[in-house]
Amino acid sequence: MKTAETIKEVRKIVNQWRKEGLTVGLVPTMGFLHEGHESLMKRSLEENDRTVVSIFVNPMQFGKSEDLDSYPRDFEKDSCICQNAGVNLIFHPASEEMYPAQFFTYTDMDILTESLCGSKRPGHFRGVCTVVSKLFHIVSPDRAYFGQKDAQQLAVIKKMVQDLNFDLEVVGCPTVREADGLAKSSRNTYLSPEERKAAGILHQALECARQAISNGEQDIAKLRSDMVQMIESEPLAGIDYVELVDGETLQPLKTLEKPALIAVAVKFGKTRLIDNYIWE
Ligand code: PAF
Repeated sequence: MKTAETIKEVRKIVNQWRKEGLTVGLVPTMGFLHEGHESLMKRSLEENDRTVVSIFVNPMQFGKSEDLDSYPRDFEKDSCICQNAGVNLIFHPASEEMYPAQFFTYTDMDILTESLCGSKRPGHFRGVCTVVSKLFHIVSPDRAYFGQKDAQQLAVIKKMVQDLNFDLEVVGCPTVREADGLAKSSRNTYLSPEERKAAGILHQALECARQAISNGEQDIAKLRSDMVQMIESEPLAGIDYVELVDGETLQPLKTLEKPALIAVAVKFGKTRLIDNYIWE
């Protein structure tokens, strides 16, 4: 496995692979890798001849009052995880490599970024779209892998690829969960033992909604209020949003139609966790 810190090095390696006729998969990450990331790497390794993992905590997608400085980082451990998984190349750029002084160009999107996390984290998706489009230009992958836990991010990136004619396939991979159903996330490490226990409520609420829908419940207001009530029964949980939206446009649903995205964002202390269930 190689590690590259510059765009030039990545291009040189990928160009050589291209000359050899090899296909390339990209797994974009912000590091502090867990089993969720490993499942993306595994899928990429199965579907491509070579796999690149980018590890870059992207400052542009963090708001001023968010956790950029405290975001967990452990490059040595990440490197071992990639090596053991069979990854071919880690791209680990410094901030100045991705955003040199005098950086003025951004990738942005309307509509899909206006609901859910987009409405709570202004500028977040502009940062995500900008860094992901840069990574796509740098690596030129055949396929890129993202987790379904970040359902809005996945929908936004799929649309960006379609709208801007990137010549690659975006592959969404299932959420990997802890034994109690909590979605794996680098931010879970912020939780105190009490908050960690309480955070199980996220999956329980989504599971109740899933069961209610499969038992024929169609009333969106009721589905939403039952979830709110359940999450509010947990004293350590502070709801940021509980929404039922169209799975493609991410606009609020008037009637329950497939694909529907049931998305929640809940704070436990200072830690904001997201999760979702896709009815399709
Ligand atoms: O999902 C993430 O870890 C990040 O948003 C991504 C896609 C790597 C862009 O920085």
